[in-house]
Amino acid sequence: MIGEIIQKDITSSEILGKIVFPSHEIQKIVKQLGEKITIDYKNKDLIIICILKGAVIFFADLIKYIDLPFSVDFMSISSYGFKESNSGIVKITKDLDENIEGKDILIVEDIIDTGLTLSYLIRNLSVREPKSIEVCTLIDRSVRRIADIKIKYVGFKLEEKYVVGYGLDYKQKYRNLQSIYELKTDTIKKDIELLKATLNK
Ligand code: IMP
Ligand code: MG
Repeated sequence: MIGEIIQKDITSSEILGKIVFPSHEIQKIVKQLGEKITIDYKNKDLIIICILKGAVIFFADLIKYIDLPFSVDFMSISSYGFKESNSGIVKITKDLDENIEGKDILIVEDIIDTGLTLSYLIRNLSVREPKSIEVCTLIDRSVRRIADIKIKYVGFKLEEKYVVGYGLDYKQKYRNLQSIYELKTDTIKKDIELLKATLNK
C-alpha cells in the first residue's frame, strides 16, 4: 500500500477521540465487499448509486474493487433540519441523472442508523421500477434502528459511538480523515445529548 499521509494536525484536534476503524482495516473490508459484489452482479445491468456526501470516499474506493462493467450515479439528500431528522422525511437535493427502470440498483451509504433515510430512499426509487434494489453500507449501527430494512452488504458493525472520517462528518468537517474516529464525548457532550434526545424521541 502507498504510505499513509500523516494527518497529525487534524487528529490532534480536541474533538477527535480514538480510532475506531483504522485505514488499513477499512481498505481490507472495502476490497472484500467489492469482490463479493463482483460475484453477485455478474451479467447484471448494474447502476451503483452514491449517496452524497457521506458515502463519497467509501464509494470511490469500493467501485475500484468491482471488476464489472457498470454505471454510477449520485443522489444527494438532506433531512429537514436536526430536529426532524427522525421523521424520515428527507429532501432530495440532487436526483439521479439516469433512468433506473429495469436496472439492478446498488445503493452505497456511509452509515445506517435509524434507517429512516434509507427506507425513504428505497420507497422513492422503487416507484421508478428498477429490477432490483440492494444496499451496501460501510457501517451498520443497528441499536437505534427504526425502519425495517434489508442490508445486503455491511462493512462494519458499530454500537453507540458517533464517528467521523473516511467521508463521515461532524458539522460538515473531518470527512478527509483516512481512518474512522470516535468523537470525544466530553468536548461535544451537549451535541451528543441533543442528538440522542432527538433520536430517542
Ligand atoms: P438514519 O436515517 O438515522 O439511518 O441516518 C443515517 C445518516 O445520518 C447517515 O447517512 C449519515 O449521514 C448520518 N449519520 C448517522 N450516524 C452518523 C455518525 O456516527 N457519523 C456521521 N454521520 C452519521
Ligand atoms: Mg449519509
